[in-house]
Amino acid sequence: MSTVTNRLYRLRSRPTGEVTADNLEWTEESVPEISRGQALIRTHYLSVDPTNRVWMSDMRSYIPPVELDAVMRGAGVGQVVASLREDLPVGAHVVGLTGWQDYCVADAAREDLPFTVLPDPLPAPLPAFVGVLGHTGISAYLGVEFGDPKPGETMLVSAAAGAVGSIAGQLAKRRGARVVGIAGGAEKCRYVVGKLGFDACVDRRADDWRTQLDLATPQGIDVDFENVGGEIMDHVLGRLNVGARITLCGLISEYNDYDGTDTQHGLRNVSQLLMQRAQLRGFIVFDHVDRYAEIIGQLSHDLSQGALISEDTVVSGLENARDTLNRSIAGEYRGKVVVKVVD
Ligand SMILES: NC(=O)c1ccc[n+]([C@@H]2O[C@H](COP(=O)([O-])OP(=O)(O)OC[C@H]3O[C@@H](n4cnc5c(N)ncnc54)[C@H](OP(=O)(O)O)[C@@H]3O)[C@@H](O)[C@H]2O)c1
Repeated sequence: MSTVTNRLYRLRSRPTGEVTADNLEWTEESVPEISRGQALIRTHYLSVDPTNRVWMSDMRSYIPPVELDAVMRGAGVGQVVASLREDLPVGAHVVGLTGWQDYCVADAAREDLPFTVLPDPLPAPLPAFVGVLGHTGISAYLGVEFGDPKPGETMLVSAAAGAVGSIAGQLAKRRGARVVGIAGGAEKCRYVVGKLGFDACVDRRADDWRTQLDLATPQGIDVDFENVGGEIMDHVLGRLNVGARITLCGLISEYNDYDGTDTQHGLRNVSQLLMQRAQLRGFIVFDHVDRYAEIIGQLSHDLSQGALISEDTVVSGLENARDTLNRSIAGEYRGKVVVKVVD
C-alpha cells in the first residue's frame, strides 16, 4: 500500500438541489499501486461541468449514473507519474476521465475509461484540453454545425457567457449570422457583446427579459443553440421562424430539480415546433469521438489566429470542487470552469 495520499470525493447519496457534503464526501485514501497494463495519473486540472450534476442523479441518461460510494466521475487533464503501459509513458500529459481525485489509475483493460496523450510540446495551456480544445469546444462546434446558421439568419445562444455558449456564438458569428446571447447579469451581457462580439445579449435576471429578447430578435429566431431549457426555451419556441432548427445541447435549468420522480417542468410551447415546422436535434458530444481530431485542429487554428476568444475560470484546490460545481450552476462564473488540483 502506497503512503502517498489520494484526496478524493465519493458519492454517498443522490442530491436533490445543490450538492451537499453529505451527498459528495471529501475524503483521503492511499494512492493505489499499479500493476501490469496500468498507469498512475496525477490530475492537474479537473473539469467542472454541469453534466457532473446529471451523473450524480439516477435520471435516465446517456451514461449510467455514478454508483453510490464510487469516486465521483469527472474529466481532467493530468500527467503520467508511474507507468506499466507503453502507450502512457511517464511524463506524458493526458486527458480523460480522471475522476474527482488527485490520482487515478488508467487501466488498459477499461475501454470505457480511455486516456488521450496530448501533443508535446503542448500547443495550448492544459485547461484548454477540457475546454475550448476539449469536450466543451467540440460541443459548441458540433451544435453550430447541426443548427447550420446562415448569413442573415438569427441564432440565439443561451448560457452565452459559459464554456459552450461563448464558443458557439463566436462560431455562428463567423458564418455571418446575427447572434443573440442570453446570460445572467448586466456584466456578463457586456462581456458577451463587447468581448465575444455577439450582436446583442439579454439579461435573464432582468424582470423584462422577455421584452429584451423580443426586441433583440426583431426578425424572429432561425436557430436556437439551447443550453438551458425551462421558461427561457419556452419563450424562444414562441419566436421561432418557419424552418427553425433547435440544437439541443443542454437543459441546465432542470439539473438541480430532478428528484427521482417524473415531476420536471416540461415545455408548454411545444405547439410551435409543429406550427413552424421546426427541427430539434439533441446531441451528446461523446458520440462524435471520430470527429474530435478534425474539430480540435480547426479550433486550434482559430485560436492561434486570434479568431476565437476563450477564457477559463480557474479555481484553486480540489477541496473546492463541490462548491465550484454548485457555484457554476448558479451562474457565478464565466467561460470554462476548471479546478486547479496541483500548483
Ligand atoms: N450535449 C453535450 O454533449 C454537452 C456537452 C457539454 C455541455 N453540455 C450542456 O451545455 C450547457 C452549457 O454547459 P457549459 O459547460 O458550457 O456550462 P456553462 O454555460 O459554462 O455554465 C452553466 C451556465 O448556465 C447558466 N444557467 C444556470 N442555471 C440557469 C437557468 N436556470 N436558466 C438559465 N441559465 C442558467 C448560467 O449562466 P448565466 O447565469 O450567465 O445564464 C451558468 O453559468 C449545459 O446544459 C451542459 O449540460 C452539453
